[in-house]
Amino acid sequence: TKKNLILAFESSCDETSVAVIEDGEKILSNVVATQINSHKRFGGVVPEVASRHHIEQITICIDEALEKAQVKTSDLTAVAVTYGPGLVGALLVGVAAAKAFAYANELPIVPVNHMAGHIYAARFVKPIVFPSMALLVSGGHTELVYMPYENEFQIIGETRDDAAGEAYDKIGRVLGMTYPAGKPIDELAHQGKDTFHFPRAMVHEDNFDFSFSGLKSAFINTVHHADQINETLNRADLAASFQQSVVDVIVKKTLLACEKFQIKQLILAGGVAANQGLRETLSEQLSVKEPDLDFVKAPLKYCGDNAAMIGAAGYVAMKHNVFADASLNAEPSLEF
Ligand code: KG4
Ligand code: ZN
Repeated sequence: TKKNLILAFESSCDETSVAVIEDGEKILSNVVATQINSHKRFGGVVPEVASRHHIEQITICIDEALEKAQVKTSDLTAVAVTYGPGLVGALLVGVAAAKAFAYANELPIVPVNHMAGHIYAARFVKPIVFPSMALLVSGGHTELVYMPYENEFQIIGETRDDAAGEAYDKIGRVLGMTYPAGKPIDELAHQGKDTFHFPRAMVHEDNFDFSFSGLKSAFINTVHHADQINETLNRADLAASFQQSVVDVIVKKTLLACEKFQIKQLILAGGVAANQGLRETLSEQLSVKEPDLDFVKAPLKYCGDNAAMIGAAGYVAMKHNVFADASLNAEPSLEF
């Protein structure tokens, strides 16, 4: 039988990426052009700068992805593209490129939700079995997503203020780190101890929601107060204390969700899923409290934004007859 070959596009934030995915599970190529160096000096992603970089990179990425995969355009089955959520100008570049490519090569267009893409990064480890639950932690989102069946997503809890990654990036600034600060804080945390005992918001509440802005404020206040009295705080302990608070809350809420929902599998995905503290603690706790649950961590390489995951999610959407026409538009606030 003929192989299903999807050309996937991702441009929702600061990564321009194009991938070729075979049968929804095999990565033939995954080209990622990151713009992080252009945003660093501003302390975060500048939307205008992001759009311009996407425009410059997108056709280069398409050519490279096809070449690396050794695939001709005539072999392709469909085009999949992230149409939200994300920065509108950034998304528009990917959407316009995908539509133009699809039109020129007479291919169908599969619209993909960026967050569904993050979940499907787990598909590169093993098949997703239902009912499943995903813990989605990224720079813009922190949510628990229940998936009773394939291609059905229900948010059962989410952050009421900052996303986990956003909190990392904000306290990173206070520590004098450049954007994005998640990875360096994670590394620093492993050299310290939880000596500060920052608050763990909503941890005792019987719901699946999160809040990280109080923790962020407590952290910033602690550092500023020390500055005022000329006291030097141990940076590794600060990082370890912050991380322990984030991990404790996320793990507690996730275990509660696993207990309340009859699921076969738990998926950890999104940029913050690369966090070693979170990966380790969740694995340990699950092996004790939910030993029969299949725990799937998105591969480290595919936790951050990439088009491979969009291709994997697009394959599933395509099976469920989710197609778009030339009127497809970017939806910056797209929800499941
Ligand atoms: O999913 P992603 O690449 O982009 C969004 O869709 O938001 O996530 C980026 C976020 C950033 O906030 C970054 O600081 C965070 O993921 N991040 C981490 C780690 N690696 C990346 N946060 C904590 N620990 C890490 N190791
Ligand atoms: Zn993302």
